[in-house]
Amino acid sequence: MQQSQDELAVEFVESITIDNRLYKYDIAGSIAHAQMLSEQKLITKSEFQEIKKALTEISEEIDAGKFKFKTEFEDIHMVVENALIKKTGDVGKKLHTGRSRNDQVCLDMRLWMRDEIAILIQLIVDLQKALVKLAQKQGQIVMPGYTHLQRAQPILAGHGVLVFAEQLQRDKERLNDLLDRVNVSPLGSGALAGSSLGLDRQRTAEILGFAGVTRNSIDSISDRDFCVEFIFCNSMIATHLSRLAEDWIIYMSQEFSFITIADAYVTGSSMMPQKKNPDMLELIRGKCSQQYGNLMAMLAMIKGQPLAYNRDMQEDKKQLFDSSDTIEACLAMTTAIVANTTFNKKEIAKDLDKGFLDATALAEYLVRKGVPFRQAHQIVGKIVNQCEDQNIALSELELDKYQKVCDKIESDVFDSLSPENVVKNYNVEGSAGLDQLNQQLEFWKDELK
Ligand code: ARG
Repeated sequence: MQQSQDELAVEFVESITIDNRLYKYDIAGSIAHAQMLSEQKLITKSEFQEIKKALTEISEEIDAGKFKFKTEFEDIHMVVENALIKKTGDVGKKLHTGRSRNDQVCLDMRLWMRDEIAILIQLIVDLQKALVKLAQKQGQIVMPGYTHLQRAQPILAGHGVLVFAEQLQRDKERLNDLLDRVNVSPLGSGALAGSSLGLDRQRTAEILGFAGVTRNSIDSISDRDFCVEFIFCNSMIATHLSRLAEDWIIYMSQEFSFITIADAYVTGSSMMPQKKNPDMLELIRGKCSQQYGNLMAMLAMIKGQPLAYNRDMQEDKKQLFDSSDTIEACLAMTTAIVANTTFNKKEIAKDLDKGFLDATALAEYLVRKGVPFRQAHQIVGKIVNQCEDQNIALSELELDKYQKVCDKIESDVFDSLSPENVVKNYNVEGSAGLDQLNQQLEFWKDELK
């Protein structure tokens, strides 16, 4: 198996330094394959037992860190097989019957990804729980909502926090959806054309817990769509985390002072002693670009390849592993930050009367009094101008001044003014008010239990 190669070429072609993390999956796949070979009488039962025992030992040696991954054996498949042959001689040489590294690597990645998806979903759930907890604890604080980063309408803080739980819910659904496409066995597709050895593909799929087998041997070993999808899923998660990071970087600036993040999750400056910098959030935002890079690299790797297998594909694992490692770290860090962040109720309340957050509510009040909305919009514009001139909030303007602009306005107008009242008056499903917050919290309690 081992050829004398120029050292430069050995280093260039190897992937063991990257794919060694697949060893458990490679070994599980090999044991299942050997079992099927014995059931099909392609090897004997005792040969299967010998192979299984040796592979289990190899797995334990790798677990214990006693195993040396030699680059001359190229990749995890060859490294494990060589170790097996070293232990079992000619018996081990039978393992590769009806199999190619081409279907083997696809199998390993699918097995790996199944587990990785479960890990990511758990990390997402952890983050969602932290968000819900924050929304439960401080969600009733009234704060400004923004569009174009300009004060727009009042919202409850919890409503803003739960946005991220919604985004993550879709991310979770995407991963679960991907799982259906990942969870089929390519084993038995061989190098590209299958085999004449009467392999039982359903059986290996069953042993390995797959929902079924792939239909077309060439497609089986050429397909890396699931890798693209996986990195896309992670890119989308990273995008969502990046948006949270950006919001909170703004919120923790002195100019906003909406939130305080615990000292462990902010950093000082080497020069300016007073500084608290949101470096962790900035890194979450920054690492997002790495996901996009991986996604582009993965797509570009596939696009020009002729069917079926080409060595280009070996590069897929760099992107895959980097993508999953990075997103795991970002999810865990975001969860820690969310669990250690407090909204500053007093600071938020201080400027709540700035920016006419209740202007839209005033227009809606006029609508309820029978004024067409476009006209109401104009009327409120005039009133806002007056208040701006006097440097007062809408709730501070006297009733007679209101009535001079519009005679439909009565003393009950004040129930519709002030951010606190506005938030109480939201009565449409999914709005930013208290009833709707409680409904959302109910949903999440049930969903995340
Ligand atoms: N290390 C290779 C990969 O990751 C395994 C398949 C190699 N196949 C081949 N025909 N050279 O893609």
